[in-house]
Amino acid sequence: MMIEPTGGILGAVVTGIDLSQPLSGADFSTVLTALGRHGVLRFPGQTLGARELKVFSERFGPIQGSVTGKFHDPEVPEVGILSNIRENGQPIGLADAGQDWHTDMSYNRVIGFVNVLYAVKVPRRDGKALGSTVFANMHAAYDELDPALKSRLEDMTATHDFNKFWEEMRRRPGSMRGPLTPEQRAKRPPSVHPVFLTHPITGRKVLYCNPGYAIRINELDEAESDRVLTALFEHQLQPRFQYSNEWSENDLLVWDHIGTLHNAIPDYTADEPRLMKRCQVMADWIFDPEFLRRALPQRSAA
Ligand code: SIN
Repeated sequence: MMIEPTGGILGAVVTGIDLSQPLSGADFSTVLTALGRHGVLRFPGQTLGARELKVFSERFGPIQGSVTGKFHDPEVPEVGILSNIRENGQPIGLADAGQDWHTDMSYNRVIGFVNVLYAVKVPRRDGKALGSTVFANMHAAYDELDPALKSRLEDMTATHDFNKFWEEMRRRPGSMRGPLTPEQRAKRPPSVHPVFLTHPITGRKVLYCNPGYAIRINELDEAESDRVLTALFEHQLQPRFQYSNEWSENDLLVWDHIGTLHNAIPDYTADEPRLMKRCQVMADWIFDPEFLRRALPQRSAA
């Protein structure tokens, strides 16, 4: 396996490994370590069916299913379909997934760990790939946060609400999303997490508060919370913390939700098809010391 950093603030390209085959313990350990270090790993030229995608993703933890029960592989429901393609007048996938800054599943009690996204169709115009996914580095955002604000927020928590992002997407012109039903809201109740988390792989602190889902700093009054959230969002999205991934067909991208934010750029039209297959993996295991000891034995021995 070869791991070549992109030279940007995030990202590495990983070659010399076939992800349709089961990963050895040593290879998984190398991938996890690289994920902590680079945040976004691109594995080009992979050929994966839905089952292989699920098996690979489940090495990192349990997969979260969709809240609506729509837009997944017919035989492998853990594999979600993201697409602007319509067949017989009907959408075949979720067309507006992730189209603003957020990190997946911060709204859950058990937060998200990784996304595994496989490119089947990439839109192109004049030979240039469209529909890039942009990332922001939350290790760097924490490191470079104003020291006074950092020490003030040190023991504070934020509430994250799934409905915030959902409603924002719904307000966009042409949105196909209906309001969440009471049952769907009950499946995704708001959750509270520390504003700063210690990353389970790197052992370093990250800023864990994203514009998509964070609605309130709980220890501050509402007006102050709004001011601080605005300042945090502005800080964490500075271009110097960002890295843009341009897709090619058969790329498999794995990214770390704990140490990054992301944003899917909708710069393509309905006539420029994009089709992605996605597994959203939760962080049940990555915070479990036993899993970490087995998955990263060299770190435990150090
Ligand atoms: C997502 O946010 O999971 C989707 C990202 C993308 O389609 O680029």
